[in-house]
Amino acid sequence: MVLVYPGSFDPITNGHLDVITRAVQICDRLIVAVGSNESKKPAFSVEERVDLIRCTIGDRDDIMVTGFSGLLADFVRKMGAKAVIKGLRAMSDFEYEFQMALLNKRLEPDMETLFMMTSVNYSYLSSSAVKEIASNGGSIDGLVPDCIKDRIVSKLTAR
Ligand code: PNS
Repeated sequence: MVLVYPGSFDPITNGHLDVITRAVQICDRLIVAVGSNESKKPAFSVEERVDLIRCTIGDRDDIMVTGFSGLLADFVRKMGAKAVIKGLRAMSDFEYEFQMALLNKRLEPDMETLFMMTSVNYSYLSSSAVKEIASNGGSIDGLVPDCIKDRIVSKLTAR
């Protein structure tokens, strides 16, 4: 089974990495799909976000990392996948994700949305929090993968 894990990943956090690590164990191939949602005014370009994720997970046959534009439902169909997986941190995520899941179901009735609870250690973590802490000079140790921490800090403090 091919699963698509879509998101903004602006930038990837240890919470995302936790979902990737667990999701890949329940499928044959995981496609991490970085969406270009410009309304969110991303700090990192899609190419930079893809590169940060690739640096984090390294070369793996069972994980593909790619950008996508347009509708998620179209991308999922094009990739021959049947389902997307999304991380859920709290009830506050649920309302938005529920709406997205229903809209995607309407667009692509064969596509399923699966939810994975994030580990409790990361339930408070978000890319926005990482950006706010780093751009104000705080430590993001333990919040993002160590191997990309310096790149994230230098990008966010250079702004
Ligand atoms: O959870 P995130 O990080 O905000 O997810 C962003 C993303 C890219 C997954 C989401 O915005 C998306 O699916 N964008 C593609 C457009 C689309 O298909 N929207 C759903 C129907 S309105």
